[in-house]
Amino acid sequence: MEKGVTNLNRFLLEEQRKYPEATGGFTILIESIGFASKIISREVNKAGIVNIIGRAQSMNVHGEDQQKLDVYANTKMIQAIDHLGKLCGMASEENDDPIMIPEKYPRGKYLAVFDPLDGSSNIDVNISIGTIFGIYKRQDDKKSDACIGDFCQPGKDMVAAGYILYGSSTMMVYSSGNGVHGFTLDPSIGEYILSHPFLKMPESGTIYSMNEANYNRWDDSTKKFVSHLKNHKERKYTSRYIGSLVADFHRNLLKGGVFLYPEDTNNPRGKLRLLYECAPLAYIAVQAGGKAVNDTQDILDIVPEGLHQREPLVIGSKYEVEAYMKYKKGEL
Ligand code: AHG
Ligand code: MN
Ligand code: MN
Repeated sequence: MEKGVTNLNRFLLEEQRKYPEATGGFTILIESIGFASKIISREVNKAGIVNIIGRAQSMNVHGEDQQKLDVYANTKMIQAIDHLGKLCGMASEENDDPIMIPEKYPRGKYLAVFDPLDGSSNIDVNISIGTIFGIYKRQDDKKSDACIGDFCQPGKDMVAAGYILYGSSTMMVYSSGNGVHGFTLDPSIGEYILSHPFLKMPESGTIYSMNEANYNRWDDSTKKFVSHLKNHKERKYTSRYIGSLVADFHRNLLKGGVFLYPEDTNNPRGKLRLLYECAPLAYIAVQAGGKAVNDTQDILDIVPEGLHQREPLVIGSKYEVEAYMKYKKGEL
């Protein structure tokens, strides 16, 4: 398909035609997430004007202050997909428990997981933020509401995953298992236009992204790996850290490099949540030829034991992630 003239809807329909048994449910689901992201993008882009930045005077399940845009984005994501008849439940970073489909709407076979607004601490200072989503199929053919156990599937079983980056332009990047594709929002017509078909993560990079303020709390193998990058004989690495996972990941996807949020003495399982942050981005990374691990295994192999389980995350180009694992195993 041609860049510049293929919009998201056309791309999804062409993808759908590859599956004769497809009912179109998945297509409308991704389209609707795209619709929600356009509304969120509009609010993000005028947050400074309307009184929508700043704290929402509420806390989420993680004890984190919710920003007003977190709550707004969460509401828009739920409203955009809860009535489609394609879902049997949703899980959000902003909700303690699974979000039920309202009685009046039919249920479907998909489960949606999302971080409605990632990088919230950057909202007030006008730095790029994002939305992360993943789509699973329920593993049984029950018609009842989803329970927590239905979401506890390894990331490799996702049917699709993606993110929207609200940056200098708004981009949707998604994969349904046939490569990674990027769409740039043309706000003048309100359409996502195919701009980055078949995105590939460079085999190696020269960028590392991590919060170095945590250095003293990292274990020795992580410290040795970071020192390895700083003193690399063949490559001159540069450090880039935005503090928005989606923005840091997207840059490394395009340019190559590695993002780390490892375990530390304060965060024994790291900070990021497996279900709706680590796994969807790991799905994208692997589809683009990269890799994503925690401290011992591939992110996509981990079966969550709850909606908000945290996991260390090291994600990016194969060379750097494999080198990290060698340090973790004591092979280097
Ligand atoms: P969220 O805003 O959804 O809570 O996610 C914030 C995450 C992630 O976007 C980012 O990589 C990380 O927090 C930054 O954490 P530190 O500020 O501890 O570096
Ligand atoms: Mn997040
Ligand atoms: Mn968030």
